[in-house]
Amino acid sequence: MTAFVPPKPAGNPRKLGPVARFFRSFHSSTAPLYANSYSMKLGEVRLPRRTMYFVNQPDLVQEILLGDVDRYPKSDLMATMLELLLGESIFVSNGDLWKQQRRMMDPAFEATRIKAIFPLMREAAEAMAARFDEGAVGADTQADLEMTHVTADVIFRTIYSRAFTREEAETIFENFEIFQHLAWQHGVWTLAGVPQKLSIGRLRAKKSAATIRELLHAPVRERLAAIGRGEDVPQTDMLSAFIRAEDPETGKRFDERELVDQIGIMFLAGHETSASALAWALYLIAQCPDVQARMQAEADTAFADGQLEFAKLRHLGFTRDVFRETLRLYPPVSFIPRDATEEQVMRGKHIMPGSILFVSPLLEHRHTEHWDDPDTFDPDRFSRPETRASEQKAYFPFSKGPRVCLGAAFALQEAVIILATILREWTVTPVEGHVPEPIARLTLRSENGIRLNFERRDRS
Ligand code: HEM
Repeated sequence: MTAFVPPKPAGNPRKLGPVARFFRSFHSSTAPLYANSYSMKLGEVRLPRRTMYFVNQPDLVQEILLGDVDRYPKSDLMATMLELLLGESIFVSNGDLWKQQRRMMDPAFEATRIKAIFPLMREAAEAMAARFDEGAVGADTQADLEMTHVTADVIFRTIYSRAFTREEAETIFENFEIFQHLAWQHGVWTLAGVPQKLSIGRLRAKKSAATIRELLHAPVRERLAAIGRGEDVPQTDMLSAFIRAEDPETGKRFDERELVDQIGIMFLAGHETSASALAWALYLIAQCPDVQARMQAEADTAFADGQLEFAKLRHLGFTRDVFRETLRLYPPVSFIPRDATEEQVMRGKHIMPGSILFVSPLLEHRHTEHWDDPDTFDPDRFSRPETRASEQKAYFPFSKGPRVCLGAAFALQEAVIILATILREWTVTPVEGHVPEPIARLTLRSENGIRLNFERRDRS
């Protein structure tokens, strides 16, 4: 197999002081990294109000993620960045509120089992294939935008039982781009202790968040009104499962605002992460024709009867490994922040309450001590038994422990369907001179986009 080493968020090789490093983080959370960030065990960045630690040692990562959720709650930094868009959703809440939300949402999520939603995922992939046929792709295509469109369509259908319109897509992309950038900057200013409530950026972020929330709220309002009028409504989508959700301990149900908070996080976490990883996956396979040919052979087998069926997903094992390897190299959620609530010692450092502990899939997945050739794209590593130990120790793209991603199985299934649907008809090749620049804000994206050529497969 061709050994391909793709671009790495390498940060800044120069020795920078803490202030310069801090200002670089406005651009991306990876910008202040040093080359040795991938081999260190515990990094420390002191800021005037709070100290941040980058915890890179597997047993400490285990303690933070698998230990007591109340001892290492989600950092308030996350809530600060996302509150305008996501209110008190499950992604940012802590304590009893989070426990109650998880008690209500675990069964609701179970109700939208991946087998049951397979047809919806396939419909969205077929709609993408139709867009591609009609000319959405070709030479020098912005592949990351296409991936955002299809993953947003998948999650929209799963939530509301209907497709995502072009108009809705444009409104969300435009506003989310603005929101993500400003929310990130707001987080960095907050860390520096600078109040932001009335800044122009904050007001602009508020406007973008309100536009997205209204777009997600309108179908919730319609559905509740239809139920109120006693009309027949869909019974198997995520919205109906959330409307019915009840806390088994207290009998509590979601009110309308809470419903929009939870739908908001499902929509956001449910497409932005998958879109980021899918775009990187396409970039990687465009560079490795042998990998792509093997995936195309799998797609041909899986689509042998003309349409992909749930039972045929088992023929897409290598495609799945390519996606897992992509998540290793480019984990969409690159940094997971938790707050320290107690004074403690880690590797000789005194961690004070209020410090932020970052565990990082990005740094662990490329850690020189845990992986062979960590920077090389090698999807076959997942079928080699010796990788098992690295995986157990240092692979967690969906996090782990009590706050593990609710949508991991969903995302893996969706990615395999989308990649196979594309490679059944198309070959992707690199655009000459285009090298993506990985940057991490809320998710790990490419600063200059991911541009690829899409060519129709030659079956002669
Ligand atoms: C490749 C795709 C995805 C990746 C890499 C990913 C990754 C993650 C990670 C790392 C977390 C933990 C974040 C933290 O603790 O700060 C998380 C949480 C979460 N994810 Fe995902 N995710 C993906 C797709 C999805 C999808 C498709 C959904 C829903 C349909 C989803 C819903 C959630 C929710 C609700 C949480 C919060 C869980 C909690 O705090 O209790 N994710 N995800």
